[in-house]
Amino acid sequence: MAKIIDGNKIAAEIKGEIALDVKKLARRKITPGLAVVLVGEDPASQVYVRMKKRDCTEVGILSFDFDLPKSCSEKRLLTLIAKLNKDPKVHGILVQLPLPKQISEAKVLNAIDPVKDVDGFHPINVGKLLNGEKAFLPCTPHGCQQLLMRSGYDPAGKHVVVVGRSNIVGKPMAAILMQKAAGANATVTVCHSRTKNIAKFTQQADILIAAIGVPGFIKSRMVKQGVIVIDVGVNRVEDATKKAGYRLVGDVDFKNVSKKARAITPVPGGVGPMTRTMLLLNTLEAARNRKASKKHGRK
Ligand code: GUN
Repeated sequence: MAKIIDGNKIAAEIKGEIALDVKKLARRKITPGLAVVLVGEDPASQVYVRMKKRDCTEVGILSFDFDLPKSCSEKRLLTLIAKLNKDPKVHGILVQLPLPKQISEAKVLNAIDPVKDVDGFHPINVGKLLNGEKAFLPCTPHGCQQLLMRSGYDPAGKHVVVVGRSNIVGKPMAAILMQKAAGANATVTVCHSRTKNIAKFTQQADILIAAIGVPGFIKSRMVKQGVIVIDVGVNRVEDATKKAGYRLVGDVDFKNVSKKARAITPVPGGVGPMTRTMLLLNTLEAARNRKASKKHGRK
């Protein structure tokens, strides 16, 4: 049986480190602040946002809530972002995705000041990541990298197969792990919905990262013995035995794949808590950077 990579435990360790650093900043009268913007009432987004705010409180980061109606215009959201960009108490801005159809995600993400872009979605940060410059890393792939490193599975020289090519996970995951840097140096293959014979690739993976959004997509026959599996999927499947009427499952057939894998993340309790912790880390970093730029006389 595979070793279970416990995301809750690793996230708690990192949160402990963040809480100490927040205290250190407090001695210099700086409290990191995160603006959390939610448009509409998507139930999954509401849950994520609530958990993100609770995490902030746990480590001493201030969170500022902005809940806008589903009918909110693009202009209204852009006006709010312009205000938050100027607000000195706000070090990080998070706009929960997806956004309602009438709002262009690209326009909104472009409008966030790159120094407050704690999601790492602004093209400036995406470009810096690709170029190997210091940047805010997108939280989910950064969390996956931390899970690997803190469990003793350095991706250096390994064949990592990423299944999924979204801007939020697959693409930045590949960019992070292919860097010439500590915690990276991997050989990366990216598979997606148009890949022919995905199993041919996934069977070659030393480390498999599943982020395709299809419940139980990765079957036991698609992986080799001893693979390390990171399951990014969070899928709601109907389950009448649960109070909520559904349960959460990943993109990996956990029951069977875990018999072949050396280590695997569970869903829930794997990548999810790490994503939220990386957001806290980026917000702390944004507050520190702000202090540094003020010291040098810039606004
Ligand atoms: N929706 C799903 N994942 C994310 C994320 O990491 N950040 C934001 N802002 N929205 C998301």
